[in-house]
Amino acid sequence: MPVMDSSNTDLRIRTSMPAFASPVDIHQAPRALIEIENLDFHYGPHKVLHEISLQIPERQVTAFIGPSGCGKSTLLRCLNRMNDLIDGARVGAGRISIRGIDIHRSDVDVIELRKRLGMVFQKSNPFPKSIYENVAYGLRIQGVRDRSRLDEAVERSLQGAGLWDEVKDRLHTSGLGLSGGQQQRLCIARTIAVEPEIILMDEPCSALDPIATAKIEELIKELRSKFTIVIVTHNMQQAARCSDLTAFFYLGRLVEFSPTRTIFMNPVNPQTEAYVSGRFG
Ligand SMILES: Nc1ncnc2c1ncn2[C@@H]1O[C@H](COP(=O)(O)OP(=O)(O)O)[C@@H](O)[C@H]1O
Ligand SMILES: [Mg+2]
Repeated sequence: MPVMDSSNTDLRIRTSMPAFASPVDIHQAPRALIEIENLDFHYGPHKVLHEISLQIPERQVTAFIGPSGCGKSTLLRCLNRMNDLIDGARVGAGRISIRGIDIHRSDVDVIELRKRLGMVFQKSNPFPKSIYENVAYGLRIQGVRDRSRLDEAVERSLQGAGLWDEVKDRLHTSGLGLSGGQQQRLCIARTIAVEPEIILMDEPCSALDPIATAKIEELIKELRSKFTIVIVTHNMQQAARCSDLTAFFYLGRLVEFSPTRTIFMNPVNPQTEAYVSGRFG
């Protein structure tokens, strides 16, 4: 049957594609890239996250919103096990998997995990080094010495972070000489230089003026074609403008997780409705 033939051919073409050219295995049943199941998290005696279950899809922007102290940053830091560095902080129950691998499994290399999940913080934190060296930093740590490879990665990452045209003539001047918004894009360039799969951003624009913020938001939308992005923001307009999915948290619990449009236009939960319409928070 012609139909069968064409579908077989189609299958053959697909299976003969370069194996895993991208990290996506197209033959796998679609599943979330990051799966959080019934997660409880404690700082010493205080339980701050309660039974969080959330499935974060690949190559989308997922925003975490909710009032200050509701646990957004804590949950973000759980994803690359940054909380391991905090005394007394521990997962009480539940699990987090990335591509089906439990990130707390004893054979998971935390350094490798953090390479796959790059992080951009609220306050931009360039190193007191040149623009070039800021971006090359992670590759140098990995032992890359080849000059042309470094040059290529620096240019590609600065292009990716929307900063290349502004800095290409002064790559060897200090990163600290850039404006706040440029410094934050430099930090994004530094993050993408080591080719992470996921970028975690914790209020990346909260120290920036509206123009610099708009640039970062545009960038986030572009980066989505290559990376999975999870962004914490207390700015609801920002979540509405640049995310595909939004999770609303309140007092350490996930209240609602839906496509961003639904959360803002047609939320199911009355608490979500009250928050997005500005009645508390
Ligand atoms: N390092 C820490 N040690 C102890 N408690 C913390 C720590 N960081 C955050 N908390 C507490 O955990 C809760 C969630 O905080 P956080 O994740 O920072 O919330 P958000 O990012 O939504 O503002 C808050 O009650 C906060 O006080
Ligand atoms: Mg926070």
